[in-house]
Amino acid sequence: MATIKIDGREIPFEQGDTIIKAAHRAGIDIPHYCWHPGLSVAANCRMCLVEVAPPPGRPALQLDILRWDPEKKDYVPARKPKLVPACQQACAPGMEVLSEGSDHVEEARGAVQELLLLNHPVDCPICDQAGECRLQDYWLEHQGTGKRMQQEVVHKPKAVVFGPTIVYDAERCIVCTRCVRFTAEIAKDPILSVRERGNLNEIVVSPDRELDHDYTLMTEHVCPVGALTSKDFRFKARVWFLRSARTICQGCATGCNAYLDYDPRTNTPHRHRPRDNEEVNKYWMCDEGMLSYKRAVEGRLGAALVGGEDASLEDALAAAKDQLAGIKDDPARVAVVLSAQHSNEDNYALLTLAKTFIGAKDLYVSGRPLGRGDEILMSEDKNPNTLGVMQLANAPAPKPIAALFDAIKAGKYSFVIALGAEIEVEAKDAESALSKLKGVVTIAAHDGPLARAAHVALPATAWAEQDGTYVNRQGLAQKSERALKARGDARPGWELVSKLGKELGYAMTFKTLAEVRRAMTPEAPAPSRDADRAAKPEVSA
Ligand code: SF4
Ligand code: SF4
Ligand code: FES
Repeated sequence: MATIKIDGREIPFEQGDTIIKAAHRAGIDIPHYCWHPGLSVAANCRMCLVEVAPPPGRPALQLDILRWDPEKKDYVPARKPKLVPACQQACAPGMEVLSEGSDHVEEARGAVQELLLLNHPVDCPICDQAGECRLQDYWLEHQGTGKRMQQEVVHKPKAVVFGPTIVYDAERCIVCTRCVRFTAEIAKDPILSVRERGNLNEIVVSPDRELDHDYTLMTEHVCPVGALTSKDFRFKARVWFLRSARTICQGCATGCNAYLDYDPRTNTPHRHRPRDNEEVNKYWMCDEGMLSYKRAVEGRLGAALVGGEDASLEDALAAAKDQLAGIKDDPARVAVVLSAQHSNEDNYALLTLAKTFIGAKDLYVSGRPLGRGDEILMSEDKNPNTLGVMQLANAPAPKPIAALFDAIKAGKYSFVIALGAEIEVEAKDAESALSKLKGVVTIAAHDGPLARAAHVALPATAWAEQDGTYVNRQGLAQKSERALKARGDARPGWELVSKLGKELGYAMTFKTLAEVRRAMTPEAPAPSRDADRAAKPEVSA
């Protein structure tokens, strides 16, 4: 593979790579604002300037400048190398690049920083980007001086509402155009543009429009400074108090890789943001998915229900045993409902109870009904693990839940054991059908028709409160990591299934998630989070 040298270190590059792309792949950081690996190159911030040695036998590109001579106390003609933006300059075999090793580059980076901060307000104490702002970080790394400009700064519009989710502060904007390029190139809705010139320029929304497509929150995420803020997150938390878990978005079958940022002191989730994965979501998420973090705490089933009334877990398990008395005599009258909303581990535990112990033959699958999809990321299937359930249950494939209610009406079943709260049928129809049965037990993280209609409902942890594996629409099994502590009496779904099985007198022995995973794939080594972490370097943001 062809190579270039950066500060004396030889690194490989792929055909078409720019210097910054090859450098980032090799773990070399070249400072940048306007460059983003998923967007076209604008090369307008000039933060990534580097010095490139001329090809052999060719003169170096030089700039004629005037330099201050302290002895003559005057400006004198001088020359210095012409620097190039690393985000735009293509690699060529044998190219020699000086980044941190060049005084000219260091000087240029400090000057670019100073220019960008000339009119920037000192908003850091109240800015939502504080703690993750490139302006702060690069000021420290490359400038580090106080402000020399004495004049009043240029004032521009502040707190401009761009749409239902985004607020713009033109004073903080460095006009890198990442947001403009994102809306045009990725969201396919080119409604942002730059108006005016020089230090008067600002980002505007097209006349008679709002920033209101399905990917508006990504504009805030790609903004390297605090110019775009999300209405949902602004003024809610300081990022240095937050921790991040590597989760999988539960919004649809795409299974976008995400970080769930949460405050461990209050056990509160604060935002979802994309995690780089070239194969699945690249660097992006849709608004629905980014806001879906709220489902970790909203609408939860915090305690067990017996006959619709709160109960302790022990009492609920005892009640479930009474309600399900008789299933051993006639397994053909037991229907088991798997859930496309739950992890592989939860579904595997229920499958084990159903097939190995009860001997139930009839499987159904519940989940959220189909919704709107698009050509970008969003799937019509609004469940994160439909494929996982289908692969686990194998043959015969579980039937859609609507068929369960038809079968109940036809008198086929006496008992239902179900995972999940979501069903694609009318809640009233479901409740009236289930009320005819001898025993209905559900294990659910959220309140919903299935939990309400059940004789006994056991409270499961939401995805953010447990580790789990989900198979996305491409067939990729992806692990989601626990962020929050369980709310109320909630326990992981697989654990509740195991407890229920034991209560019913079966030898269900799953005590840890690792045991469930080993039972699912006996030959696989115990999953390692660290191995996962090392597998995917982050390059965006
Ligand atoms: S709003 Fe942010 S992303 Fe958009 S141009 Fe300004 S600084 Fe760049
Ligand atoms: S496309 Fe689907 S998985 Fe991705 S962020 Fe949106 S809802 Fe979540
Ligand atoms: S990152 Fe290269 S010019 Fe902005």
